[in-house]
Amino acid sequence: MDRAAHLARLTQAAGCKLLYTLKPFSFAGAMELLAPHVAGFSVSSLFEAKLARRVLGAKGTVHMTTPGLRRDELDDLAGLCDHLSFNSLSQWTTLSPLLEGRAARGLRINPQLSLVSDERYNPCRKHSKLGVPLPALEAALAATPGLLEGLTGIHFHTNCDSRDLAPLLATVRRLVDRLGGPLKKLSWVNLGGGYMYGPKADTAPLAEAVELLREGCGVEVFIEPGAAFARSPGRIVASVIDLFDSDGATVAVLDTTVNHLPEVFEYQEPPDVAGAVAGGPHAYLLAGCSCLAGDVFGTHAFNEPLTVGSQVVFEDAGAYTMPKWHWFNGISLPSVYALTPQGRVVLKKSYEYHEFETHCGGR
Ligand SMILES: Cc1ncc(COP(=O)(O)O)c(C=O)c1O
Repeated sequence: MDRAAHLARLTQAAGCKLLYTLKPFSFAGAMELLAPHVAGFSVSSLFEAKLARRVLGAKGTVHMTTPGLRRDELDDLAGLCDHLSFNSLSQWTTLSPLLEGRAARGLRINPQLSLVSDERYNPCRKHSKLGVPLPALEAALAATPGLLEGLTGIHFHTNCDSRDLAPLLATVRRLVDRLGGPLKKLSWVNLGGGYMYGPKADTAPLAEAVELLREGCGVEVFIEPGAAFARSPGRIVASVIDLFDSDGATVAVLDTTVNHLPEVFEYQEPPDVAGAVAGGPHAYLLAGCSCLAGDVFGTHAFNEPLTVGSQVVFEDAGAYTMPKWHWFNGISLPSVYALTPQGRVVLKKSYEYHEFETHCGGR
């Protein structure tokens, strides 16, 4: 929790309110530990909103944005969320009147400043489904000046795993430049997530961005990182269940799969393996145990040989693992353990056969 306390201090010093976004790790036990360090949670669906409210009780705010907002969920969401940012002008026009007086109504915008080279993760890509493009908003406002009556804030989220906060400042500058007048009528701006600012980060660009918005436009500012909280504290501990030669490479089959660490497969980047030594004497192709041929974690070398039963530990594995892992091949999901400040490892959740059966439509 040192990390959460540190993030809270850095964010507060920049004049900004900190939210934790549930999407990388929505484990209730972790959310309970994080809750005292944040102003609230940010969510992407009705189920996440319910979980957020269950953990927070009345002690924090719940902020939501999603392209998947459904009319038939609005009443429930109104009772759970404090801020709801609509993703499009069509939903703003049709659905936002139904929320009047029940939640602070916002609009997600797309500042059209691309910061991410992998288009799969670029919310500002061409034909993006995420947020109202700035020019479309400007045109709509010119055509219908009263369009945003009742709007209290705006949300954007445009980056992914950035250690540098300068792109956030550039985005805010663009926003203030283009939307200066309307911004002054609002009461909040949510800067989204995508920034991995940790203890050694230069937070001056965040402070400057917040000042532009707070002092220049009079709005309260929120930021909602996820991976910055969750990535480094998490690890996946696997065991070797088989070793054999395949075309001159030693394959070490593990009792896990890339389906438990989906970012490895999505990015095709080798994960961080504890004790791995580049060019070390004992090299293995670390493989998952599913039937998928490409279920491999890459080649990693160690100073000591692996044997059946050896542990292999994937580090920095806390973000976008648990919410994205799945039951492919009926391989059990990993048990979840917490490490206490005293160094004790405590089992928090293990997955049993009946959960697999339920998932498969059984009893
Ligand atoms: C709207 C929104 N907010 C926050 C985040 C959190 O991003 P990260 O975990 O990279 O900080 C995301 C990630 O996709 C997002 O879509």
